[in-house]
Amino acid sequence: MSGAQPKASAIAGLISVVAEVNPKAVMTRYQQGWVDEVYTDIKKLVVRVKKAVASGVVVSMAYEGNIVDVWEVFAEENIKIDIGSDQTSLHNPWAGGYYPAGYSFEESNRLITADPEKFREAVRHSLRRQVEAINVHTVRGTYFFDYGNAFLLEASRAGADVLTAVGEFRYPSYVQDIMGPMCFDYGFGPFRWICCSNNPKDLAITDRIAEEQLVRLALTAPEEIRLQLEDNIRWIREAARNNLVVGSQARILYADSEGRIAIAGAFNKAIADGEISAPVVIGRDHHDVSGTDSPFRETSNIYDGSKFTSDMAVQNVIGDSIRGATWVSLHNGGGVGWGEVINGGFGMVLDGSANAGLKLCMMLHWDVNNGIARRSWARNREAMFALKREMERTPGLVVTFPYIADDKVIDEAFGE
Ligand SMILES: NC(=O)c1ccc[n+]([C@@H]2O[C@H](COP(=O)([O-])OP(=O)(O)OC[C@H]3O[C@@H](n4cnc5c(N)ncnc54)[C@H](O)[C@@H]3O)[C@@H](O)[C@H]2O)c1
Repeated sequence: MSGAQPKASAIAGLISVVAEVNPKAVMTRYQQGWVDEVYTDIKKLVVRVKKAVASGVVVSMAYEGNIVDVWEVFAEENIKIDIGSDQTSLHNPWAGGYYPAGYSFEESNRLITADPEKFREAVRHSLRRQVEAINVHTVRGTYFFDYGNAFLLEASRAGADVLTAVGEFRYPSYVQDIMGPMCFDYGFGPFRWICCSNNPKDLAITDRIAEEQLVRLALTAPEEIRLQLEDNIRWIREAARNNLVVGSQARILYADSEGRIAIAGAFNKAIADGEISAPVVIGRDHHDVSGTDSPFRETSNIYDGSKFTSDMAVQNVIGDSIRGATWVSLHNGGGVGWGEVINGGFGMVLDGSANAGLKLCMMLHWDVNNGIARRSWARNREAMFALKREMERTPGLVVTFPYIADDKVIDEAFGE
């Protein structure tokens, strides 16, 4: 259980339930305020969920126990789940990434070393049960998606009923359905910053500046990206009130190339003017438009075959380096596992200087548009839209577009 999901669902106005087998993890998230209520008895959880649904009052609940029990009991109790996913660490199924139903947290930990084969069989059995229950919910209308944690992959390996007749996963990855077409293809991704002063007052100023910039951009934004901007305006307005800082004074939001440059430029100016008391470091997550080649996650909605190459992250890092990033990194693995992904990342120090102002424009522009170009070459409609817009905005930027062939012509040529 990460704290992000219950907090995000509360901000989005949902009633949410997360399950976590490790009591310590539950308590940490509860004490830090990421989740509103904790239940150890599933019958009490059911009563509370039904009451919350009836009253429509937003609340986030944690169930200290196995996720399989929640899916199964909610199916028996006919509790309608609108949206569901799984966030166990299934990229590491045999060493504690996934705890099987029917065993307590301590029992599982003992079994992992005492009888690894029995543990593996328990995990496979649990995954089959979990998918069976999820399938009941999806028939009733639940939208289920793979979170990028190898759930569908491991469930299929365990023999769970998770494949279609032609051997494809019956549920989408969240990148294929949501993040790719709504965010990454338009250049929206997780832009983040850290206030080097570690002063909450500086963070509050950056929040205000970011909000002002997004509001300004939303005034003239095309319909295609207005929702993304509005979501992030709502998010940044509420971020401080939701008390989300647990260490460094840092923040994250989703923005496109134009938004990232506008926000970073305004930070740099505020540092130069002395409004922000110390430098700000900008960066982003790997889970973004351009920095990562990962066919099972970040690039899973690139359907022209090129998702199986790993050129984008490398070009991204080289381009960022020569455009002024303070540091860059290129690394294998992470999330979906070794050999399955290449990640490129950067950090840039904004110190209020004119030089930093120039570098941030050059580097952020490349850091985002490099990936949009690749997504556009793959004929992703949204990326082609974003790239055309960028070329209208940026003098001298010329990127080739793919020719869109008529499927009928191709089918006829191949005799289908
Ligand atoms: N899509 C994304 O953006 C994204 C981001 C971060 C992580 N991930 C992936 O999500 C997975 C989880 O990441 P994390 O950082 O939260 O990992 P984590 O290991 O910190 O958390 C997973 C939790 O699941 C609990 N758990 C395992 N099996 C369970 C079960 N059957 N029932 C209830 N609880 C169970 C564990 O006790 C653990 O606390 C990883 O595979 C990671 O790669 C995806």
